[in-house]
Amino acid sequence: MKVLVVGGGGREHALAWKLCQSAHVSEVFVAPGNAGTAAEPKTKNVEIGAEDISALLDFAKRQNVDLTLVGPEGPLVGGIVDQFKDEHLPIFGPVAATARLEGSKSFAKQFMQKHRIPTADYAVFTDFAEAHDYIVSRPVPMVVKADGLAAGKGVIIALDHAHALDSARQMLSGERFGDAGKSIVVEEFIQGEEASFICMADGEHVLSMATSQDHKKRDVGDVGPNTGGMGAYSPAPIVSEALHQRILEKVIYPTVRGFAEQGTPYIGFLYAGLMIDAQENPHVLEFNCRFGDPEAQPILMRMQSDLAELCLAALAGQLDQHVIQWDTRTALGVVLAAGGYPLDTCEKGAAIQGLSQSRETPAQKVFHAGTCERDGRVLTNGGRVLCATALGDTVLQAQQRAYRLAQQISWPQMFYRTDIGHRAVSDNR
Ligand code: AMP
Ligand code: GLY
Repeated sequence: MKVLVVGGGGREHALAWKLCQSAHVSEVFVAPGNAGTAAEPKTKNVEIGAEDISALLDFAKRQNVDLTLVGPEGPLVGGIVDQFKDEHLPIFGPVAATARLEGSKSFAKQFMQKHRIPTADYAVFTDFAEAHDYIVSRPVPMVVKADGLAAGKGVIIALDHAHALDSARQMLSGERFGDAGKSIVVEEFIQGEEASFICMADGEHVLSMATSQDHKKRDVGDVGPNTGGMGAYSPAPIVSEALHQRILEKVIYPTVRGFAEQGTPYIGFLYAGLMIDAQENPHVLEFNCRFGDPEAQPILMRMQSDLAELCLAALAGQLDQHVIQWDTRTALGVVLAAGGYPLDTCEKGAAIQGLSQSRETPAQKVFHAGTCERDGRVLTNGGRVLCATALGDTVLQAQQRAYRLAQQISWPQMFYRTDIGHRAVSDNR
């Protein structure tokens, strides 16, 4: 079976690596991929951007691709699944009407309200005068969000009214985030601990991925600007059995049922970004219509089941006939980032040293993200560059192994957080 993975980040490297392990899979194309996906057995990078849906469609037709998996949200929101389906090409992911759950925060909020899914109180604005009156009438801190896709950067936590008003004005005027900010969601700040809940849905049934926790802030101690994620581990001790069940019943099942009822069944990975309050109640901060990055790296390292088989089962509406086997150990991934990240201006083109020394085994692996190969050298090519990931019998052991792997690698201005997994390590829940 030939598989196409769309995207070129760490998540896509992990997906391609996992798919290569399937006995059913003969070849994995990754578009556009990175230096890591180019080096896996069975894989081949294809020079097509993840957003170039018509070129991806032509490629999949020409190559008779048997299954396509889409990593990032852009092409999903842009309708890649609709277009592949029109051509009868098997593709695992949500159609544009369901991907709106990530593509539009106001749509997601209205959907949650309609289906009684717990989330922060909110209001939506396109007009600054109206936003102003609402903002000054609400307690701080409060959260101002650009409605559309903003590469994970469209969320402002405002500690005072002036900051909230300023953010609202910049977004609504189009000055910040362009069209994505011309409509905004203003919502209540929720206190708690964050967790990522990711599952596969086939329109009716759901299979949960192992639990995980990301580290959104750039700096040690969970401070600094928000990023796409600086490291993740799985399982997340905060998600107890009871909480897991509560998340399914209060968040995941109502979402899948809601889309089935409106005639656009949810098929694909579904990711709920949650805040867990002191009473262990989940509140949805956001939905993503895809796998998490970097959550995919540790989660897929623990997955023992055949990912290609699971995707095909989902397309047949048969996820209820499957279970996923997990390695019981903990996996932890540390993101190695380029100087300047999360700014778009971070430096590219630096030669990465030490990759060959980082001996890879099924229990430790350096997943590539923003990398490319030039004349036999691996160069940085993005903000998040690598994710050093390892399994351990305890979270502490996984952490030590992942950092040992990270320490072998260097390039000028490389940085990483030194405390990935700190909550689980100090956790005695
Ligand atoms: P989002 O992209 O909506 O998940 O927001 C990015 C980050 O902002 C989240 O991971 C949280 O850390 C924070 N955040 C978003 N919404 C809220 C909220 N209502 N209360 C507290 N923190 C939030
Ligand atoms: N790691 C967070 C995300 O994938 O959105």
